[in-house]
Amino acid sequence: MQIRNIFLYSFLFLGLSFLVSSCVKDEGGTISQTYTIEDYEVVSAKLNLPNNTIEYLEVDLPPHMENSGFSIAGGNIQNHGATLGRVLFYETRLSKNNAVSCSSCHAQANGFADPVAFSKGFDDQDTKRNSLALGNVRFYYHDRGFMWDERAESVEDQTRQTVTDHIEMGMDNWSEVVASLRDEAYYEILFKKAFGDAEITEARLQTALSMFVRSIISKGSKFDAAMVSSNLSFLSGSPRLSGFTDSENDGLALYMNNCNSCHGNILFLGQSAANNGLDMNYADKGIGALTNNSYQNGVFKVPFMRNIAMTAPYMHDGRFETLEEVVEHYSTGIKAHDNLDFKLSAGGFNFTETEKENLVDFLFTLSDFEMATEEKYSNPFK
Ligand code: HEC
Ligand code: HEC
Repeated sequence: MQIRNIFLYSFLFLGLSFLVSSCVKDEGGTISQTYTIEDYEVVSAKLNLPNNTIEYLEVDLPPHMENSGFSIAGGNIQNHGATLGRVLFYETRLSKNNAVSCSSCHAQANGFADPVAFSKGFDDQDTKRNSLALGNVRFYYHDRGFMWDERAESVEDQTRQTVTDHIEMGMDNWSEVVASLRDEAYYEILFKKAFGDAEITEARLQTALSMFVRSIISKGSKFDAAMVSSNLSFLSGSPRLSGFTDSENDGLALYMNNCNSCHGNILFLGQSAANNGLDMNYADKGIGALTNNSYQNGVFKVPFMRNIAMTAPYMHDGRFETLEEVVEHYSTGIKAHDNLDFKLSAGGFNFTETEKENLVDFLFTLSDFEMATEEKYSNPFK
């Protein structure tokens, strides 16, 4: 519903801006573009951005995503804001010694995760946890937290913490970031487009980055195509999807029975945090470390299943290299931790070899290669 309204408004808005912009001609008689000729010279000297508006707001969702009932919490995206956010996402000036950008640990080709267990921060120190994949953040419930221990309330909050994190980006404060960005002339232009004037502020930086992060949508996987060709707008029971192999369909059925209750369906967003029995004693206590509540020791955010084949290694500490190892954990490796979620039992599901293959085959169908290569999410720096 809400998505439809946003579609409608953005259509009206686009229509209006098209009317306005197509009437304004510069002296050469060409139709004016997003940037003036002078501004575009400055922008295009360093950035590979087209001189027209990139569409981040309007997304053509397949029916099973549009009807999923998920609220589009924080869906307030503007195209110029997200464009600025994209440049900032790839901007190494956000880190202390210009060493890393958000994309260093959230790489598009890896489903916006990092292919190593722990990522390298600005000073070559390792992060304490495995990088989390980004995508479909726009659909998160308001009350669901970000980060493995769900300590951040919103993408804005997460961004605020990351840039001044002493391992990740190492900035002393946000004034340092603002000062560093003032050195680049294109920011004046991009801020003016996004916010009406050129002032760079902490809040604006967080807003723009969050708009970009929220604009990243995963909807083009083999699973999505199979839902569309099966004419299904939701999943229930054990459906057989057209376009899936028998093994993928058997894997989907196993997923629906054993994994879906935590990892969610359709959008493949996780439900509330849980303990999945990785250890008897956790070196990293997860939410328990934050709250000092022993019932939350070893309890972590239930991560995102989309693009899972691209986001290895797995778990908060990146302990598993492959999906086969993950499935083996659920099959035979679940530990009897005191906080083990009631949906799992110590030992495991004891899957047969065929079932393990089916599950892995199904998980591979969640890869969205469109998202992983789409230009509007890519590095705009020349
Ligand atoms: C040095 C590596 C590194 C950099 C740089 C980095 N991140 Fe992260 N990011 C991580 C790690 C590791 C986590 C998980 C942290 C945790 O749970 O404690 C994470 C978590 C997140 C999450 C939470 C996702 C979720 O589903 O809960 C978001 C959003 C995010 N990062 C966005 C960004 C943005 C935006 C930037 C740039 C301002 C950025 N990251 C820079 C490593 C990095
Ligand atoms: C009780 C809830 C629950 C159930 C049921 C469950 N999981 Fe998980 N899963 C989690 C939690 C929590 C994590 C993160 C744990 C951590 O890192 O400490 C996780 C992590 C994962 C990861 C790693 C994701 C990443 O980005 O690193 C994969 C893959 C996964 N689960 C697949 C499955 C499969 C397949 C099943 C069914 C056989 C399943 N899960 C059943 C809660 C659950």
